[in-house]
Parts: sequence; C-alpha cells; structure tokens
Amino acid sequence: MNILVTGGAGYIGSHTVRALQKAGHTPVVLDNLSRGHVESLPAGVEFINMDIADPALVNLLKEKQIDGVMHFAAHSQVGESMVNPMIYYENNVVGSFRLIESVRQAGVKYFVFSSTAAVYGEPEEVPIKEDARLAPTNVYGRTKLMIEQMLQDYSNIYGLRYVALRYFNAAGADNSGEIGEDHTPETHLIPLILEAALGKRPNITIFGTDYDTADGTCVRDYIHVNDLASAHILSMEYLRDGGESNYFNLGSGNGFSVKEIVDTTKAVTGIDFSVAIGERRAGDPGTLIASSEKAQTILGWKPVHSDVMQVIKDAWQWHQGHPNGYKA
Ligand code: UFG
Repeated sequence: MNILVTGGAGYIGSHTVRALQKAGHTPVVLDNLSRGHVESLPAGVEFINMDIADPALVNLLKEKQIDGVMHFAAHSQVGESMVNPMIYYENNVVGSFRLIESVRQAGVKYFVFSSTAAVYGEPEEVPIKEDARLAPTNVYGRTKLMIEQMLQDYSNIYGLRYVALRYFNAAGADNSGEIGEDHTPETHLIPLILEAALGKRPNITIFGTDYDTADGTCVRDYIHVNDLASAHILSMEYLRDGGESNYFNLGSGNGFSVKEIVDTTKAVTGIDFSVAIGERRAGDPGTLIASSEKAQTILGWKPVHSDVMQVIKDAWQWHQGHPNGYKA
C-alpha cells in the first residue's frame, strides 16, 4: 500500500516508516520539521516538507495514489499543553481537522491515528480497557479525544474507516542504534534517566513518593516503539481487509514504578547516577496499565520487544551513540 505518514520524521513515526518499508509498503513522509528530524529517515523514502493543514495536500494525496494515512504529527507534551494550550488546539485539533478533510476530499479510504492513554485521565480501574470512562485531565489528552470524535463522525457520515491507537508510555529505540528518541525539551522519564547516566544532568528527580502504589512512586506501562510500529501496520492491513472503524489500547500489560525504572536503568548501564526526590507533578495519575487484549484478539498484535530490560537497553544504545540526539 502507499501510505502517507504525517509526522514521519518524529520519534514513533520514524520507527514506523522503517517498519513499513520492511513490510513491503511504500511510505511517503509528510512533516513540517517543527519537531521532527529529517536525519531519522531511511534512504529511499520520499519526504515532503509540508504542514498537515496545507490545502495542497488534497492534490498530493491523489498524485501519490495514497491508500491510507498514518497520522502521527502532533504536539505531545502534557506539561506544555497546560501552559500553552493554543498550539495544541491549533496544531492538533485544527491541523488534524484540515488533514482529515483533505483525506475526505481526495477519497483516501483508511486512516490510522496516534491517540493516547491520556484520553482516560485518572482511571477507575486498572488494567484499563477501551470501554473505560474517557475523562482526560490535560489539554493534550483532550485534543486527542476531540480528534477521535471527529474521526467517528467522518466514519459514520462519510464512510472514512479509521483506527485510533491509544498508546501508553512509548519508550525504547530501534535496535540498529540508528534512530531513537530526541525531544527538545525532553520531559520523558527514560531518556531523562539516561541523560543522568551519561552525566548530561546532575541527577534524576522522582516526582512524588506518596502515591498509592507498592513503593509510593507512579506506575506506568512502557511499550517499545517498534511494537507500536507493528500495531500501525496491522491496523492499516485490518482496514484494507474490510475491518470496521475501531480503537485499541497499546501497552505491554505490565506496570513498572518510577523507582523500578531507575533501578533497572542502573543495572543496564552499570552507572550509579544520583537520584533526588521531588514533589508530585501536577496531573500525574498514580497507576496507568493497559489491557491490550482487544488489539491482540482483533488485530493479532503481540508486543515482542517490550520486556522492560530490552526497552531500556535499546534506549541506552541510542543515547550512548547519540548523546546530542540527531545533532552531530
Ligand atoms: N517522572 C519522574 N521524573 C521525571 C520525569 C517523569 O518521576 O523527571 C515520572 C512521571 O511523574 C510519571 C513517569 O515518570 O509518573 C512517566 O512520566 P513521562 O513523562 O515519561 O510519561 P507520562 O506517563 O507522563 O506520559 C506519557 C506520554 C503522554 C501519554 C502518557 C500516556 O508522554 O503523551 O504517557 O500514559 F499521554
């Protein structure tokens, strides 16, 4: 299939572009490089520097004979979304609306959307199933939920078929060591810990030790970026093979506390970096663990890289090889 990958130069997008090539599909990357890295793209992939809101997209989708769109392009930092909501509404909501409308006008049939566990907010029950209450506690999660709702309307009214994938904590890197996570500023736990291990920051601060969890620190479900990539391909093939519009959680089903991640990283790196204890970060739920049974049953998806040790090893390999990210 010919697949347009928006945000294909970003962290999860770039891993999916490689997986698409390996699976024999033809990815075309669309990215405005506001946050992405053109260096992350493999040789031979077509790259178009364009915004998702650009009306020229309608003709591009037709010219390239695009069968399906994978939509990664978005702002994705929870903290930033609470300080600067305008760019989240502009880029995520308005930008996605423009993209989805171009997709409709061009007659593209299939759409796979990067959603997030943040659509659930503070869960009533864990593991979280797809029919759990949708109650985002931050602007980022709300914008992703609005896009899911938009897709549902376009599916019901115009017949666009879509899959929304609600990721838990994306982590790790391709084991080639060539691509990985490079955000500015970085706010995610594992890359920040690895920066402490590399001596790029004086310590890692654990945000809160008084949560209702076994060791008092937050528990999260870390899912390897290459397992996310394979879920996108299975979702696109599911739509191609007649699957109806749907939404799925993507997680490993295992929870690890911040302390456990810190200790595992010390074991993987062999470095005893310093750890500080800080206050809770506003808006952090205590425990987020996915039930991914639905994706496993309907898509036939299986996370195979998400053993936590492997996730951290792969991320460490990338960080050691690229201490300044994609910058030389
Ligand atoms: N944490 C620390 N210290 C840090 C950074 C993070 O203790 O310096 C803790 C956080 O409090 C949290 C855990 O580590 O408990 C993971 O934090 P991340 O920032 O890495 O990830 P989040 O769980 O906050 O959010 C991630 C994505 C969101 C997504 C969410 C869904 O960034 O986009 O997972 O679960 F919505």
